[in-house]
Amino acid sequence: ELSPTDAAKDAAARAAVALVQDGMRLGLGTGSTAVFMVHRLAARIRAEGLRLRCAATSRATCELAGRLGIAIEELDEIGWLDLTLDGADEIDPDLNLIKGGGGAHLREKITAAASDRMVVVADPAKVVEVLGAFHLPVEVTPFGVETTRIHIQRLLDAMGMTQRPMLLRQRDGAIFRTDEGNLILDLSLDRIADPAALGRGLNAIPGVVEHGLFLGMCHLALIGSPDGSVIELT
Ligand code: A5P
Repeated sequence: ELSPTDAAKDAAARAAVALVQDGMRLGLGTGSTAVFMVHRLAARIRAEGLRLRCAATSRATCELAGRLGIAIEELDEIGWLDLTLDGADEIDPDLNLIKGGGGAHLREKITAAASDRMVVVADPAKVVEVLGAFHLPVEVTPFGVETTRIHIQRLLDAMGMTQRPMLLRQRDGAIFRTDEGNLILDLSLDRIADPAALGRGLNAIPGVVEHGLFLGMCHLALIGSPDGSVIELT
């Protein structure tokens, strides 16, 4: 028996996987909603014998797909994708996103940017009016992390954004390393009034590898409900 939230995630996942057509080149996202999506995809491949080429946005998704019998190739082996299906931490009315709650946003963004379409799968709690209540993950190089933190602080000050201390992400009592071997600074901002300006400012800092703002990248968001219905946001 699924919890209401999991039932909503699974409903969104089912609707997203229904968009997959034989012969497609697919990007597979990361996170708990993506887990439902990968299971639904594996079921369709088994039932219909779909021939797909799939790239994963994280080691975790690669391993899950492998266990379920979905062959995963390197993104660069495939070259370009028709469709990427992924979760999100927040979705605003313009379909701008915060991602990276699972620390995978760098590979996710590279993969989504190499796709003709990005479709997001989520439960209703992810839909917000203004981005920023969820912490904004920023992937940074280990080298110079403290100076990068100062740069980010100055940027936020210049933008008039108040914030609480940026935390270096930990997991299981150790400093979290991304699949690329980098670190994550989590920014508690409450409200991001100008995501485009913040994104540009962060990308201009040398030690910032990539931030979790996905702006103008998502084409469709499928929001599942616990009762199995799905709302499309475009
Ligand atoms: C992974 O780094 C994230 O971008 C996920 O896609 C995002 O955190 C959504 O995860 P859930 O589906 O677990 O909420």
